[in-house]
Amino acid sequence: MNEVRIGPSILSCDFLRLKEEIEAVDEAKADLIHIDVMDGHFVPNITIGPLFVEAIRGITKTPLDVHLMIEKPSRYIGAFIDAGADIVTVHAETDPHLHRTLDEIKSKNRTAGVSLNPSTPLDIIDYVLDMVDLVLIMTVNPGFGGQSFIPGMLKKIARTYDMIKGTGRSIDLEVDGGIKAHNAKEVVMAGANILVMGTEIFGSKNYKEKIREIRRELEGVSCGDRKAEDL
Ligand code: DX5
Ligand code: ZN
Repeated sequence: MNEVRIGPSILSCDFLRLKEEIEAVDEAKADLIHIDVMDGHFVPNITIGPLFVEAIRGITKTPLDVHLMIEKPSRYIGAFIDAGADIVTVHAETDPHLHRTLDEIKSKNRTAGVSLNPSTPLDIIDYVLDMVDLVLIMTVNPGFGGQSFIPGMLKKIARTYDMIKGTGRSIDLEVDGGIKAHNAKEVVMAGANILVMGTEIFGSKNYKEKIREIRRELEGVSCGDRKAEDL
């Protein structure tokens, strides 16, 4: 499994100072920039679209991790890729043609991710695991930053890790929602290797110090060390 990567979610940044915020997380050596796209249908909130991604692309070389919380995501794959997305993640619940959508992302040489809401069973991805590059397990109900981590998701992360291991493929396991320095270790032990953090990073005074603190928490921790049956 790859090294653990940290992706600040710009949902919690100061939008009036977007450029400085992006520069600050770059300076803090964030591995990815997580961008939450919400349509007011699949989730109750409305955020941003491809133009915003394009603007961010213009000021950073850090990989852009675009999390589409929208209905019929296939309609917008091309637009987000043209705007500069490196990772495109769609929700399994909202796409009856998930295989085709993931195939389209892959055909454009981008990282194809599939995300599951907390209540969505894992078997929904059984028949796409042979092609996905990333699985994103939501650890809160999507729509808003600043919610609390749902403890039952630890077992789900560990089960996802086992499923991924069973494929023999290298698939990233990302977690999103309520991830903090204090629970980073637990989610990584359960198997996560990409941690999205919104309020934890953008709510801190010093992003560089916060990311250092998270990495310190993860020193010596090996990914997937804890078994699903022990959780
Ligand atoms: C929630 C979003 C998250 C959100 C996480 O629907 O997908 O990316 O920004 O925020 P925190 O880390 O504050 O829970
Ligand atoms: Zn997200």
